[in-house]
Amino acid sequence: MTLVRMGAATPLFASRVRGITGSVIDASTSLLAAQSHDVVRLAMGSPAPEAIPSGVFADLLADVAGSGVDAFDYGATEGDPALREALLEFLAEQGTPVRADELLITSGGMQGLDLACKLFVGAGDLVAVESPTYTNGTATISGYEGEMLEVPGDRDGMNVAALEALVSERGAPPKVIYTIPTFQNPSGTTLSLERRERLVELAEQWDALILEDDPYSLLRFEGEPLPSLRELATGRARVVAVHTFSKIIAPGLRVGWVVAEPEVITRMIDARQSMDTCTAPPMQRLVARFLAGGSAETHLSGLREAYRDRKRAMQEALALELGDLGATWTDPYGGFFLWLTLSEGTDTQALFPAALSEGVAYIPGQAFSISGRFDNALRLAFSAEPPERAREGVRRLRRALERQPAAN
Ligand SMILES: Cc1ncc(COP(=O)(O)O)c(C=O)c1O
Repeated sequence: MTLVRMGAATPLFASRVRGITGSVIDASTSLLAAQSHDVVRLAMGSPAPEAIPSGVFADLLADVAGSGVDAFDYGATEGDPALREALLEFLAEQGTPVRADELLITSGGMQGLDLACKLFVGAGDLVAVESPTYTNGTATISGYEGEMLEVPGDRDGMNVAALEALVSERGAPPKVIYTIPTFQNPSGTTLSLERRERLVELAEQWDALILEDDPYSLLRFEGEPLPSLRELATGRARVVAVHTFSKIIAPGLRVGWVVAEPEVITRMIDARQSMDTCTAPPMQRLVARFLAGGSAETHLSGLREAYRDRKRAMQEALALELGDLGATWTDPYGGFFLWLTLSEGTDTQALFPAALSEGVAYIPGQAFSISGRFDNALRLAFSAEPPERAREGVRRLRRALERQPAAN
């Protein structure tokens, strides 16, 4: 008889398991849930709890549950017909019309990223990524064994000239360019129109796919709207655009969508049929009713106003509490995040335990770079806490910095 020891499966793992890294961001949900003291939550990219219309949801869910048992059956992989119809109409109203054969409903934005990487990223394929960038995006690429090229950014988003220089140094173009061009996670910056144009030109020249991750563009609270990369690239370069209702309705619904060429959508549907079959139909029908109910635009304008106020309050608090320490921060025109850079030599990872015990949580900068850059930076989500709590959070951060001179 052979005794199987715990952990004995490890040698059997497929080689890709080496690239499955998990996410510091998602792990912070459990970490924070385990805290018994008051913590100002500036870590997770969660919407304002007040912005989640739970009363409306209760009515809509009752309506879904009462509408027939088929809401609880398997649904169509491409998405529930009612949601597809409501979303197509909503997108057209937003001035970004999409054809039905270009649309796939997904289980949140993460599934869109996963499907795109499953289709386009194989072992050793080169993927250009912003630096800093969304940890879960790079985790997905690494899970499919892609090789990444980190491209620096500045206040106008990815530095596209630096991308060109890195590619010519390397002598090989990327197969995929992963970017969050609008209100980037984690920096909050937006790719300028000029750079958008150039990026599309390069993708065309290199025959590369652009993976445009866009959860936030409907949350613009300042400045002028810009065309998406997908819009700019029409008829020129290939773009897969990943969107989600997580930030504009609620993340727990796990409903998102992808816009791509019909041949890509067809293969994504095939891929999902051996994955999760379909997005939970009751949640899709809830979102469909929410969109069709006519109040989505009012809801969005309320969100924009609230997030603008929260960003401004956070920036005022930063100026007041950290201005004398030489700290700098970005000025997002939408979305959930800003990026705080502390003085050279500060270690925001080492600072984290002190910050948590003072009662404030953030995500250390290193989490947003595959090579562990940005020691002295951190991401602050201004979305989840009201202005007075954000001020308190920044005060606590200051106290942690004073308590921890070694990290300073
Ligand atoms: C840039 C970016 N992409 C994708 C996602 C994932 O979205 P979802 O929660 O809908 O899976 C997020 C969520 O924070 C995000 O910020």
